[in-house]
Formats: sequence, C-alpha cells, structure tokens
Amino acid sequence: MKFFVDTADVPAIAELNDLGMVDGVTTNPSLIKKSGRDILEVTKEICDLVDGPVSAEVTATDAETMIAEGRKLVEIAENIAVKVPLTWDGLKACKALSDDGHMVNVTLCFSANQALLAAKAGATFISPFIGRLDDINLDGLDLIADIRTIYDNYGYETEILAASIRTVNHISECAKIGADVITAPPAVIQSMVKHPLTDKGLDAFLADIKSAGISIL
Ligand code: G3P
Repeated sequence: MKFFVDTADVPAIAELNDLGMVDGVTTNPSLIKKSGRDILEVTKEICDLVDGPVSAEVTATDAETMIAEGRKLVEIAENIAVKVPLTWDGLKACKALSDDGHMVNVTLCFSANQALLAAKAGATFISPFIGRLDDINLDGLDLIADIRTIYDNYGYETEILAASIRTVNHISECAKIGADVITAPPAVIQSMVKHPLTDKGLDAFLADIKSAGISIL
C-alpha cells in the first residue's frame, strides 16, 4: 500500500520522506491555508522533495476555469496530480485533464456512485473521505470496501486513495480492504509505531543492560 502524506508542512514531509515513508503528498485549500504559504511556491517545494504524485487542488467551481487552473498547476512539475471536487463540473475537468495525459485526483467522494463516475471520467485517484463519514455516524470504511468491489468487478484502474484518515486503525483497515493508497497527516503515520508492549519490553531490556553492564561500543 502506498503512503501519501496529507499536509503542506514541508519539514514534516521531509522527515517522513527521509525514512522512505512517502510515496506521494496530498494538499487541499485548508492545508495550504494552514501552511501560511503561497500555493504555487509551497507546491513546487514539495514536488522538488518528493518523487511521487503531489496533489494540488483547483480553486474554481466551473469546469472551464478548473481546466485552466489544472493546466497551470501541471506546469509546476511533472509529478503534479490535479485535484478536482466530485461535482459534475469537476468530472468534466477530470475528463479533459486526464485526456491531456495529466494525473487527476477526484476529491470529496462520499458515495460509491460518485466513485464510479470518477473512474469513468478517467480519474487517476479517487479520494473517499473516511473520517467525515464517521463524523456523521456512517462507516467510512464500508465505502472503501464498496468502491474496491466495484472497481474490481469492472477492472477500473483508478486508484482508491483513502483520505480523511484520523486513526491508525483506519490505515490498517484500509490495508486489509485493499485500498491502493492512504493519505494521512504526519502525526497519524508516526503513531503507527506505538505499542505499549514494545515500550514495556524495551524498558525490561534496558534494565537488564544496565544491571549486567552489557555494552557493545
Ligand atoms: O485528504 C483529505 C483530508 O485533508 C480531510 O481530512 O480530517 O479534514 O476530514 P479531514
């Protein structure tokens, strides 16, 4: 499973990238706002750092302007994936930009039918939002499973990019279901390392190292 980092925080991306944990990056207007950076400048910096796809989201809502924005965004670097919302106009932009040969990430997906439309419009990635479905008492992971079934039934190559990941369990469940990619905030990815038995076991080993005077260097 590929790991994308859901942030525009360049130092946080760099730290995970150095560990080989970053297969791509996703941004959105809220994350750009949080970074306090200019969208074109910070996106270029991320593209220079990371080899994989870097999603940059359009700001318009009409297809024509979304396509123009997308064509400007792809000039930043070869690894840009243009992110468009899952609206009718967004699907038109997806079709035009994917026909041009660009990667397109269709975002704000909350239903299997929306995911089916995005695949037919040539999306490279579909971004179902797990956490926001959980927020309204639905099960975001059920949506990931439904899209996996539908895409596999018909051989769609659109990659399922599970987004709005809030917990480490979201990640392991997505891996079991067969999501192609997860995108998560750096802190959630870092939390995957935590286990109380690891800490307890290490404490016991450290106590024995100290009492036995074990040293290597
Ligand atoms: O990738 C989408 C993500 O940024 C949304 O996450 O936590 O705001 O629902 P969240």
